[in-house]
Amino acid sequence: MKLEKQQPIGVFDSGIGGLTVAHAIKKLLPQESMIYFGDTAHLPYGDKSEAAIQAYSVKIADVLVKKGCKVLVIACNSASSAAYELLKEYVRKDIHIINVIDPMVELVLGQFPGRQVGLIGTKRTVQSGVYVRKISEGNKNITVHSLATPLLAPMIEEGFFNNQISHEIIANYLADPVLQNQNIEALILACTHYPLIKKEISNFYGNKLAILDSSEVVALALKEHLEKEGLLNDQATPDYSFFVSDYTESFEAAAGIFFHETVHLDKHTTL
Ligand code: DGL
Repeated sequence: MKLEKQQPIGVFDSGIGGLTVAHAIKKLLPQESMIYFGDTAHLPYGDKSEAAIQAYSVKIADVLVKKGCKVLVIACNSASSAAYELLKEYVRKDIHIINVIDPMVELVLGQFPGRQVGLIGTKRTVQSGVYVRKISEGNKNITVHSLATPLLAPMIEEGFFNNQISHEIIANYLADPVLQNQNIEALILACTHYPLIKKEISNFYGNKLAILDSSEVVALALKEHLEKEGLLNDQATPDYSFFVSDYTESFEAAAGIFFHETVHLDKHTTL
C-alpha cells in the first residue's frame, strides 16, 4: 500500500518526555497529523536493558504502523540507542524511522569540529556509547565527555524544575569531574526530558556554553524526509492523538507541560 501525505506521523517515547519533540514537530509542521505513544507502563527506559527496550519498541512500532503512520520518530534517546537499528530492519521498508541521535550528531559534526563536547543522558544512552561512536566516526578530533544523570528525568516528571531542588541536583551533576575542567564548549542534552531544564543548565554555565537539545533538529530532519519523499501534508486539518500504556492523572497533567498545551491521554489496551 502506497504511503499518502494525509497519513499521520508516529512519535514514541518511554513516557511523556518525547512530547518535547512532538511539540517541536507541531511547531515546524503544523499541517501534519500526529499519533503519540508514551510507554508509561514501562518507564523509565533509561534503567532497562537493551533487550527489554527493543521488545517494547517493536510492539509500539507495530501499534503505530497499524494506525497508519507514514513515518516513525523515536522521540527517546534510550530507545534510539537501544532499538533504532532493530526497528530499521523490523518495520516495513517504506516507513522511514527517524531517531533523536543522528540529527544531533550531524549538528555537532558541523558546528564543533576539533572541540570538547559534554553530554548528559540516561544510563542506557550513556552506556551504549552511541554518541561517542557516531561522533568519532564523523570526526576523530571531537572529544565527547559523557555523564549519566539518571535522577533528572524523574525529577522533571515530578514537576521539579526551575526551583531550588532542581538547581541543586543539576549543579551537583554538572560539577562532576567528567564534565568540569574539560574545556567543553557545548553540552548535548541526550534525553528528551531535558529541554525543560535547558535554561537552568545554561545558567549553571553563566549562559556561556552552547546547550544543544535535539527537538528542533529532529523536527527539521523529519521535514526534510517528508519533502524528499513528497509526503508533506499540505491540505488536511491536522488531528492529534496521544496514547499511553498506563494512564494516570498525573501523567496527563505533566504531559501538558511537555507539550505546552493541554493534552488528553488515552490508555492503549494492547501493549
Ligand atoms: N525520554 C527518555 C530519553 O530520552 C528518558 C526517560 C527514560 O529513562 O525513560 O532517554
